[in-house]
Amino acid sequence: METGIDAGMDWFAARAALDWQLELGADEAIGEAPVDRFAIEAGAQAARSALVAAPAPGRMAPAPEADPVQDAEAAARGAATLDQLRDAMAAFDHCDLKRGARNLVFCDGVPGARVMIVGEAPGRDEDRQGKPFVGRAGQLLDRMLGAIGLSRAESVYITNVLPWRPPQNRDPKPTEIAMMLPFLRRHIALADPDLLVIVGNISCNALLGRTGITRLRGQWTEAEGRPAIPMFHPAYLLRQPRMKRETWADLLSLSAKLKALP
Ligand code: URA
Repeated sequence: METGIDAGMDWFAARAALDWQLELGADEAIGEAPVDRFAIEAGAQAARSALVAAPAPGRMAPAPEADPVQDAEAAARGAATLDQLRDAMAAFDHCDLKRGARNLVFCDGVPGARVMIVGEAPGRDEDRQGKPFVGRAGQLLDRMLGAIGLSRAESVYITNVLPWRPPQNRDPKPTEIAMMLPFLRRHIALADPDLLVIVGNISCNALLGRTGITRLRGQWTEAEGRPAIPMFHPAYLLRQPRMKRETWADLLSLSAKLKALP
């Protein structure tokens, strides 16, 4: 049977295609190449015999259910550098988003810069290039930063709450944010910026535990032990250009804070 599932499909599209076939009544998977099930069964039998012959494991307790947040905390704690943190995130297997993503989107800009921007999650362009904020919203972000003399080439470090693209750009789930938050916290600690720019509601929720960006924006607060300013997400500004005026005020406030901080 022609499955319609091709090798270039992402995980979520393949899963949707499979569900669709089940709904149509498919109850057996038949591949195009013949499979010698006798040979497979002989191999399985040998493996079972080896297991039976193995020494009794004693009173082995069943493996405890893994807790994704605890695992993330341990993995993040173990990272002593940004490179190690990237590796730890790449090895983290609890988040389903990873299976549908092309790339881990870790950071862009200058590690150690005074300004660290925290966005929400990669979109299609970011997923393809493996870098945050490279699509239309990212280009607007670059122009916003340029207006106060900042740039990712020289003076800004950028990351996201989530390193993998959610399918169809849906909002991240609370469980996904909770399990990736220990990595974000460690990311901020290792990058050690003077201040944080938190863009969008999802990032505010993750780092401040608050939403309502229209009220929060432009109000200096503290996150991860350093000054932080929430701002409108550039994707929102693309849809609502009228709000650029407020963002200009926030950018001036950011510029003044940088001058005022030691
Ligand atoms: N939106 C984000 O929040 N982050 C990106 O990297 C791209 C778009």
